[in-house]
Amino acid sequence: MPDATTDAEPAALLALATELAIEAGALVAERTAGRAATVDTKSSATDLVTAVDRDVEALITARLRAARPQDAIVGEEGTAHEGASGVRWLIDPIDGTTNFVYGYPAYAVSIGAERDGEALAGVVLDIAHTDLYTAARGLGAACNGLSIAVSDREDLASALIGTGFGYVAEVRRRQGAVLAHVLPRVRDVRRSGSAALDLCWLARGRVDGYYEDGVQAWDTAAGELLVREAGGRVGRLAGVTERGYLVASAPGIFDAFHALITEAEAGAGER
Ligand code: IPD
Ligand code: CA
Repeated sequence: MPDATTDAEPAALLALATELAIEAGALVAERTAGRAATVDTKSSATDLVTAVDRDVEALITARLRAARPQDAIVGEEGTAHEGASGVRWLIDPIDGTTNFVYGYPAYAVSIGAERDGEALAGVVLDIAHTDLYTAARGLGAACNGLSIAVSDREDLASALIGTGFGYVAEVRRRQGAVLAHVLPRVRDVRRSGSAALDLCWLARGRVDGYYEDGVQAWDTAAGELLVREAGGRVGRLAGVTERGYLVASAPGIFDAFHALITEAEAGAGER
């Protein structure tokens, strides 16, 4: 019998992550009315955090500590537990906090699990649409239990691309320059305000590609696995920045898309 507190089977981790995301989503939905009452700022005046973000992270962390005390946990709102099992959980209690504060319907709970750096399970709950995205290594990706797949797009010029922006003005100036290079070369660009949902929407074919400079592991851990398990490709822009720079897309456009972002970055000048 596997020990439920240390079992690192992708399906077992996925089952736990799903349970936690549903419980966390219920708490977010319950607290929606009070979302604007308790807003603070973080890295800049535009980087918001609410009491709901903190309470949801505390809830997920407490449940994980009880179920799997030997695992490491990292959360966007400051959780940092070391572990001995080799399994690490990456949690974004609300990805899309600005949207949550405004009631713009694109915010999600994101929970990923990895072992020795290899993604094993990921769950993203799109709270406003009650869509539950799940993936486990080697077992495929699903939305509400139905299998999903990336698009079969092969031509970058007709690709719909998602992206996102950081909260620091200097970073945004550069992201604007990169965007100016990309926009005339693709069908159009979308900015949802949640990196986790950008990746889920790529995984189900709502966009053909997604790139962003400055994402954190908790923003994308679950979504990256969803994209891979849905048949997509995920890469990073090497040597451009120490911040995470994600490039992900349908397989048919990946090489051209990665080359376009590399070219756009090179043209955006010195960092
Ligand atoms: C942000 C969202 C946004 C992305 C930012 C993230 P948060 O996370 O994912 O789409 O562009 O880079 O920081 O602050 O809403 O949890
Ligand atoms: Ca986030």
